[in-house]
Amino acid sequence: MKILMVCLGNICRSPLAEGIMKHFIDKEGLGWQVDSAGTGAYHIGRHPDVRSIKIAQQNGIDISHQKARQFIKADFKTFDHIYVMDKHNYEDVINLATSDEEKQKVKLFITDEIVPDPYYDDSLFKPTFNMIYAQCGKLLTSLKKENR
Ligand code: 4NP
Repeated sequence: MKILMVCLGNICRSPLAEGIMKHFIDKEGLGWQVDSAGTGAYHIGRHPDVRSIKIAQQNGIDISHQKARQFIKADFKTFDHIYVMDKHNYEDVINLATSDEEKQKVKLFITDEIVPDPYYDDSLFKPTFNMIYAQCGKLLTSLKKENR
């Protein structure tokens, strides 16, 4: 199973989603692959935002080694599931898809809900972490069923 988490900058939300999902996957010894990317190019090569690193650290998850990269068309081939954090990310990724098969891989990380961008509001990092953590748990359960 190969999973890609996508947001705008790949420095706040999707690095958390990658780190938390990896944490669960390792805990269960599943051997699945998880990565993250941004639709934008602003932060390529940078480590996650210090506020994301800190909230993850406080919860026993190290994301400090991650480096931002931009979503590329080849990701449609590499990954089984592409989870986007909000509707802008959805539009940006869907617009790069070249087949129905590719389009079907793209889903909102939380069905019918968006993960708000915390970049401009320090107080959002904790609720964002909690929201992503809860959803990673649910996602793991449903993907395990699908993979049986
Ligand atoms: P992310 O947050 O998409 O969760 O990584 C953002 C990071 C940077 C910017 C916007 C959102 N920015 O405009 O630079």
